[in-house]
Amino acid sequence: MTIAEIKKLEWEDKYSVGVTEIDDQHKRMFVVINELLDAIHTNTPAEHLGNIIDSLVKYKIFHFATEEKYFKEFNYEETETHIAEHHKFNERLTALKEKYPEPTIDFAFELVDFLEDWLINHLMTVDQKYVKCFHDHGLK
Ligand SMILES: [Fe+2]
Ligand SMILES: [Fe+2]
Repeated sequence: MTIAEIKKLEWEDKYSVGVTEIDDQHKRMFVVINELLDAIHTNTPAEHLGNIIDSLVKYKIFHFATEEKYFKEFNYEETETHIAEHHKFNERLTALKEKYPEPTIDFAFELVDFLEDWLINHLMTVDQKYVKCFHDHGLK
């Protein structure tokens, strides 16, 4: 995959987990990923790239915490496997940060490539599994 080949993310109904709070967080992640992609395409200075990457990472932490809070609250049966997936994501991110100590374009590119893939895949498989449990507990 080259930088030019990476497309912006567009929200589609099939990504929905049917819970507004969670959908809004996923949508927000799409927005920040697209911002990062724009920054790559316009050759944004490293400092600004670093800011976008930081906000993305912070938002991701916040989002994982939201999902995991409901898992515990609702005694979700797949809590452990789902949290393990979130941890795997964190490990990949840490490895990427070690590879690129500075927020370079190469780093941003590799991050976007990984994030788009990971997020769509996670949304469509792992996140979909909690929909019934969340709905059964009254979230919508
Ligand atoms: Fe998740
Ligand atoms: Fe999620």
